Amino acid sequence: MPLPSEYLVSEQPRARWMRFDTAQLLKRFFFCERSLLTTEAAWIPVVAPLEIKTGLARFVWQKAETAHALRERVFELRFPSRLLDEEGADHALIELFSAVKDSPSVPAFLMSMGKVLLPALRDAYQGYLQASDSIADGPTHRFLSLALSEKAEQIKAYREWSESALLLNPELRADAIVWTDAVASRLGDVGGVGVEPSASATLMGPLSHSKAYATPRRPGRDPRFLSCRFYWPDIVDSTYPYGEGMRLQMRSAISHLNEVWAIEAGGAMLNAFADVLPWEWIHNAARWTYDESRHCRMGYERLMAWRLDPAEIPLGTYIYESASGEDPIYFLGMLYFFETKNIRHKPARAQLFHAYGDAVSEHDMDFDWADETMHAGYGKHWLKELLAVRGQDPAAYDQVREQCEKLVSDFVTTATAGEVAAIKDAASALLAKAGRR
Ligand SMILES: [Fe+2]
Ligand SMILES: [Fe+2]
Repeated sequence: MPLPSEYLVSEQPRARWMRFDTAQLLKRFFFCERSLLTTEAAWIPVVAPLEIKTGLARFVWQKAETAHALRERVFELRFPSRLLDEEGADHALIELFSAVKDSPSVPAFLMSMGKVLLPALRDAYQGYLQASDSIADGPTHRFLSLALSEKAEQIKAYREWSESALLLNPELRADAIVWTDAVASRLGDVGGVGVEPSASATLMGPLSHSKAYATPRRPGRDPRFLSCRFYWPDIVDSTYPYGEGMRLQMRSAISHLNEVWAIEAGGAMLNAFADVLPWEWIHNAARWTYDESRHCRMGYERLMAWRLDPAEIPLGTYIYESASGEDPIYFLGMLYFFETKNIRHKPARAQLFHAYGDAVSEHDMDFDWADETMHAGYGKHWLKELLAVRGQDPAAYDQVREQCEKLVSDFVTTATAGEVAAIKDAASALLAKAGRR
């Protein structure tokens, strides 16, 4: 029996964690989110289905927003200093979270995320919200409740995606299960995410069956679409008109859909420079990648609303392929090059769509324009930062842009006569079909 105190003492569970403990846990969650989103970004170019690519981009952005809020909150709590540069006692846990980037296959990646890592983080958030004090730590409660509901959505999507990937490749199921079990067992060994002090800080090395991640030279492509490198005739034939009227409506929707390359470039560059540039890079690149996924979906939705068949809609790879295999600075450079090249046309095109009474194309172009204005700023800023980090002249960012223009024009010269004829046929067929609608 405790001795009677001469002071006022009451038992209140809300005093469970002091400020320091709270900051420790939030720092752990930050590193978990950061690691998961970097892995998700890296896998965007690998996966084929358009729905998974755009879904991953959205989840990358959600996680970046959560991580950003966690990071700001840790700073507010004045965790000894601005010591957020390393995982500290959670080293082994974060090593495991990062190890999933080296998953041996797409289903293995999707399954280990959906069945192990995301549920572990969800449970930790639930535990944190239950045990922490909603008075002292109210600011965390607001954003962590949102993060918890997003985790439920992410887990559901990952589980559906991994099942659909396994339906297409049933021979990968056994290995995916072995991998997922290995991730779960390692998570147990390092003490889980949870809300308790770190169990183990000893690094354990790569998981068995892991396959070192490499940015793919060619992006995965959704087999529902017409697969090609160059997705419209004007790319390979400068005399082919961009068009007006219905041709412009079609061209614009095809452009938007084919911004799939920009989602892939965004994911690849986020991952490539995650450990080179400061946190703000990941935060900006995540939003950037998500925005490109929205532009891609805008095109997809318009084409579907016009009742066109995906099998007749060209989905190309040339911009991604012009940059992949090079220094990843050219993924960043490609986004900057195309965004600064095309942005001036957008307001005029939005006006034309207005004149045609095509409110959806107008609406999409107008929102796209606002995003692209922001992206042009990102591009210039981060090209300069990256050059500076490399000890090069930040003013050389325009030379990166020029080199991107050259990479693309060189790649376009590899178009074969067969490819040119095929894309002209595909465009004619699509325009003829749209004309009959
Ligand atoms: Fe875009
Ligand atoms: Fe953009």
